[in-house]
Amino acid sequence: MKVLITGGAGFIGSNLAKYLLKKDHEILIIDDLSTGQFENIKHMEKHPKFTFVLDSILNYTVLDELVSSVDIVYHLAAAVGVEYIINNPLKSIEVNVQGTENVLKLAHKYKKKVLLASTSEVYGKNEKASLEENDDRILGSTTINRWSYSNNKALDEFLALAYFREKKLPIVIVRLFNTTGPGQVGDYGMVVPRFIKQALLNKPITVYGDGEQTRCFTHVDDVVSALDLLMNCNSCEGEIFNVGNPEEVSMNDLAKRIVKYLKSESKIMHISYEKVMGPNFEDMRRRVPNNDKINKFIGWKPKMNLSHIIKDIVKHYEEDLRF
Ligand SMILES: NC(=O)c1ccc[n+]([C@@H]2O[C@H](COP(=O)([O-])OP(=O)(O)OC[C@H]3O[C@@H](n4cnc5c(N)ncnc54)[C@H](O)[C@@H]3O)[C@@H](O)[C@H]2O)c1
Repeated sequence: MKVLITGGAGFIGSNLAKYLLKKDHEILIIDDLSTGQFENIKHMEKHPKFTFVLDSILNYTVLDELVSSVDIVYHLAAAVGVEYIINNPLKSIEVNVQGTENVLKLAHKYKKKVLLASTSEVYGKNEKASLEENDDRILGSTTINRWSYSNNKALDEFLALAYFREKKLPIVIVRLFNTTGPGQVGDYGMVVPRFIKQALLNKPITVYGDGEQTRCFTHVDDVVSALDLLMNCNSCEGEIFNVGNPEEVSMNDLAKRIVKYLKSESKIMHISYEKVMGPNFEDMRRRVPNNDKINKFIGWKPKMNLSHIIKDIVKHYEEDLRF
């Protein structure tokens, strides 16, 4: 199959491209390298079945040509990461709303199946022990910038579902929970690579808030296999799926585990949210996925636990030294 991956030079997109190339698909990528890196795809550049287009999904003419030429579309391009969204509010809305609209409109024009990467951020402040796809969204005020990402992605979901219901466009929506692994950079607030980098450099590990907030991390390899299975599942069309690992860890414990694993001299330093994110910031204490639905539809469960994730990221940093 000929596959278009928007945002394919990003962390998840480049791993997906590598995975699908190995399965002998032909890969076309569009990425404006705003948060993605050419380094992520450099090793595939010379592959005869790989093409990289440096452009934006906001360029409708270019996107039209690309969508028309492929069989399926993985739509991953987005403004990503809480810190990035807060610092780039306008661009984030434009890319995450208009960009997705462009992709869906063209997919409909050429009748191409789309997998839409949404996010656990849509659940907002719902801190239920095990979030299910139909659970309520609990959001803060529009003056708090972080909720813009949640709303933009929710609008993407509404749009994709509307195309499915009204126009019979085959779509599948995935709500990714914190995805991490080798190759992810810590620059946009991605916590695991940031802590590991700080620990490797024996610098203070900067934990935001009191550090007792918990998160769940999924290995990118687990995510990529879920994306492939979901794209190839007919009964999954028109459905929304959580993709995440329910293993929960507090930020304090995460920092301690990384320090211990690396035998680092780093001290753990708490910084107020206000100092990093500015005034008017809200965060949730926990966000845990329920994977029953995806397990029922495609038999997917994450295979890699947090220890495995930490080990893999450390190995990558030590081999690559790409901080
Ligand atoms: N990593 C996570 O924990 C996580 C969690 C939830 C959802 N997601 C979703 O998964 C997708 C991929 O995220 P990621 O973690 O790989 O982040 P990433 O930043 O590495 O990837 C996003 C890619 O999109 C590209 N991009 C941004 N704007 C663009 C535009 N206008 N035109 C073309 N390309 C553009 C970036 O350059 C980047 O390569 C995103 O849609 C994100 O919302 C990720």
